[in-house]
Amino acid sequence: MDTLPIVGVDGGDVRNYLTFILNGKTQRVDNIAGDMTLLKWLRNQKSLVGSKEGCAEGDCGACTVAIVKTDDSGNLTWRSVNACIVFMGMLEGCAVITVEGLNGPDSELHPCQKALIDFHGSQCGFCTPGFVMSLFTAWSNKHGLMAEDIDDTLAGNLCRCTGYRPIVEAGLSLKNAKQPQWELDRNEILKKELFKIKSSEPVEITDGKNSFSVPTNHEDFSKTYADQPSSTIVSGATDIGLWVTKQNRNLPSMIWTGRVEEFSKIDQQEDFIIIRPAVTHQEAMEKLGSKWPTINALWKRFGSVQVRNSGTVCGNLANGSPIGDLPPALIALGSLIELTNRNKKRKLPLEEFFIEYGRQDRHAGEYVSGIFVPNKSGNNFRCYKLSKRFDQDISAVMMGANLSVEKTKITKATICFGGMAGTPKRATEVEKALLDQPFEPQSFIKASKNINKDFDPLTDVRGSADYRRKAAQNLVIKYGYELTGSFVPNLADRNQVENLVS
Ligand SMILES: Cc1cc2nc3c(=O)[nH]c(=O)nc-3n(C[C@H](O)[C@H](O)[C@H](O)COP(=O)(O)OP(=O)(O)OC[C@H]3O[C@@H](n4cnc5c(N)ncnc54)[C@H](O)[C@@H]3O)c2cc1C
Ligand code: FES
Ligand code: FES
Repeated sequence: MDTLPIVGVDGGDVRNYLTFILNGKTQRVDNIAGDMTLLKWLRNQKSLVGSKEGCAEGDCGACTVAIVKTDDSGNLTWRSVNACIVFMGMLEGCAVITVEGLNGPDSELHPCQKALIDFHGSQCGFCTPGFVMSLFTAWSNKHGLMAEDIDDTLAGNLCRCTGYRPIVEAGLSLKNAKQPQWELDRNEILKKELFKIKSSEPVEITDGKNSFSVPTNHEDFSKTYADQPSSTIVSGATDIGLWVTKQNRNLPSMIWTGRVEEFSKIDQQEDFIIIRPAVTHQEAMEKLGSKWPTINALWKRFGSVQVRNSGTVCGNLANGSPIGDLPPALIALGSLIELTNRNKKRKLPLEEFFIEYGRQDRHAGEYVSGIFVPNKSGNNFRCYKLSKRFDQDISAVMMGANLSVEKTKITKATICFGGMAGTPKRATEVEKALLDQPFEPQSFIKASKNINKDFDPLTDVRGSADYRRKAAQNLVIKYGYELTGSFVPNLADRNQVENLVS
């Protein structure tokens, strides 16, 4: 396939090199394969081997680096990401800080490095750079180092040797540590350097075989993709990165949503909250989490901070996965998906987007341009994720549910499951059995039996068909108990569990 020429709609030029800052030094990178990952480049081209390759699939965090940008108010923001699944083109206009870039003048250790040493948190050593970088981004953003947040901060960094206690203690010790003056000065310089490389030019990098296009506005993106619909749309690359590192797939031309200005917004309309293609899980969680605590709890268990910092909400729908966490929740909320081909837009209920396993209602040249989440959903919305591990695991069964009650009767029910069929799918027989029934636990217990009519699930490594059926039935019952006011223990709540055990 030919490489993908970005056409600036105004006929303007497309830059053929990247500009970003690495550990304080501006880089100009050209003639590079579109599928080159940041980790590979750091280690092989720059001999920066502090960032390690553990899994090469975003799971272990040994490759964690910080990506620094400025926000709308001009303040610096730090994001931890897994360098093994970040493509080089995604760095345009950013600063990257690796473990080699942390220390101060005269090799003075950064407080995050020192804390790990002081608390004996560097055990095997291989995973240590990743832990340091996760602590560093949390410290730099000034959150994530409180006792209740530290597990979240470190959930994307695996320690398989000795244990997390000294690492957690090192993290907690940083809560009140003072930022050294040299770091404050360095941040001021970084702000200025980021300002200098700021640009709205579209970029395309290629080694002649694999290209990566970085359009900057919606028209360029739409036109470029409509002209070459066989190219691969990349958003956070938390799926696509693995196609390259694990499946050795050849992706001759990729086009990135991440720098298109209009795509990074969460728009508020009277009836809808609209999440655009480049909005990451972390950003969506920060904005929407307080509105729906149940989806906030789900997001906290979505991958890890690193995965949520890169992966997008729209990517989680567009990938068509039957076990994606968000589709059941967003379907239960009654969301619409918007698809765009050049200037043509259409919207459909999210559940209709998923036709069958591996097939979605998306025509050639169309891309997902937004997800419209109804603003006014009642208090009865819940979502529950069942997975083998609490953090950083894909669901075995995922349920999103919502219902309306008038007087004492159920008048509307939307119950949707992931992990039970080839697509995210509504449990229509359960829904029917709930309609017009009294709003009491018994109605949910009876209706839950209809799971057997709705689904014939698969057995796979995540769970047997029998487990899935029983788990889904139990989730319907749990939902009923929870809504009707019975006490349902929340095993994710440490205080509740401690009380139950004592
Ligand atoms: C370690 C790890 C943990 C994970 N944990 C979870 C988890 O807990 N729950 C879960 O559901 N998923 C999980 N995932 C999967 C993944 O992170 C999510 O599905 C994520 O939301 C994908 O979004 P992305 O932006 O990274 O997509 P990408 O990898 O960029 O793209 C995914 C697919 O969507 C297409 N695409 C992306 N954006 C668009 C668009 N705007 N229009 C059309 N097509 C588009 C791409 O072409 C590709 O086919 C995990 C992944 C990793 C690596
Ligand atoms: S090498 Fe394991 S997350 Fe990157
Ligand atoms: S400290 Fe490296 S695996 Fe535990």
